[in-house]
Amino acid sequence: MKILVTGGAGFIGGNFIHYMMKEHKNYEILCVDALTYAGNMETLAPVMENPKFKFIKADIADRPAIYQIFEEESLDIVVNFAAESHVDRSIEEPEIFLRTNVMGTQVMLDACRKYGIHRYHQVSTDEVYGDLPLDRPELFFIEETPIHTSSPYSASKASADLLVQAYHRTFKVPVTISRCSNNYGPYHFPEKLIPLMIANALNGKPLPVYGKGENVRDWLYVEDHCRAIDMIIHKGTIGEVYNIGGHNERTNLEVVKTIIRALGASEELITYVTDRAGHDLRYAINPTKIHRELGWLPTTTFDEGIKKTIKWYLDHKKWWENIISGEYQEYYDKMYGNK
Ligand code: NAD
Ligand code: DAU
Repeated sequence: MKILVTGGAGFIGGNFIHYMMKEHKNYEILCVDALTYAGNMETLAPVMENPKFKFIKADIADRPAIYQIFEEESLDIVVNFAAESHVDRSIEEPEIFLRTNVMGTQVMLDACRKYGIHRYHQVSTDEVYGDLPLDRPELFFIEETPIHTSSPYSASKASADLLVQAYHRTFKVPVTISRCSNNYGPYHFPEKLIPLMIANALNGKPLPVYGKGENVRDWLYVEDHCRAIDMIIHKGTIGEVYNIGGHNERTNLEVVKTIIRALGASEELITYVTDRAGHDLRYAINPTKIHRELGWLPTTTFDEGIKKTIKWYLDHKKWWENIISGEYQEYYDKMYGNK
């Protein structure tokens, strides 16, 4: 079995490669990644010497480069993680989100159609459903919830999902789609809420909370997401969408305070800053379908997962200190300087 993983030098793709190489020792894994600001070869260092692993630097929107890879490698499964993934960046600069997330997905689908594969899996997001109100805790996203996007990021991910479904119906490409809630865990880029708060709290820097910190996210430990994708690509029904989430809803302020307590930092570091434009209020997944059809359930609670994550950031300071000392600092000053 040979699996092409795009975006494997990023957070979830990197964790997925580590997970698959541990769980399926006889599989070959090929990682294709353009190494944007979010891609980090350090994340793949533990597998680089493994003869079953290969890395190719390429852009998924570069059609000749992607076709050449499909021509040279005999691929069974493609899992497309590669994307621009940060909502705030999509508000600053939408265009690259359309290029990578929409056009890149189209190139991958065309390659699958032209060269043939057993499965194309699209890693999508719960953000395609828009948001839920804060005062209706009984509401959850199901697979039939209408697409209703808020940011250029979620609009680009929704467009990609529609293309994936169109390629299945029109060209019979054997696809599956997963829509997961917010992930956290090792190798998470420190522009996202949890790693940013851990890094800032450790450095005694302000903890920028958007608005009043009342927005709710449904947090899933990244390994649970990887296991769900492993199940979908092996046992999921072609043409289907699967929601992934573990009923771990927290307000942003609760998350920040949990991190502060775990690190023995001061709540005085919390700094309320201008809200994100169009900020989605609440995400909450109903994962009944993947549980019923594939037997998936999350195994890590938020309390356990956040402890493991904080320990990982304490044990791997070099990994994130290298990031925050580089060009990422310019982005940080630009985004938070005037807030
Ligand atoms: P990330 O930003 O950490 O990593 C993205 C990776 O894709 C990086 O390695 C980057 O170099 C690579 N990449 C970007 N543009 C590329 C291109 N044109 N060609 C090839 N590679 C390219 O993202 P992540 O958080 O790991 O998210 C991975 C996927 O999961 C995305 O599709 C995202 O929409 C989806 N997702 C993320 C979450 C989450 O909480 N982070 C939740 C649900 C779904
Ligand atoms: O739900 C899945 C999505 O989760 C993925 O599709 C996205 O790729 C991923 O980035 C994530 O999107 P969010 O916008 O929910 O994640 P982020 O970590 O950027 O923000 C989480 C919440 O914290 C959100 O309500 C905004 C808030 N926030 C974020 C940052 C970076 C702050 O209050 N302060 C901050 O500095």
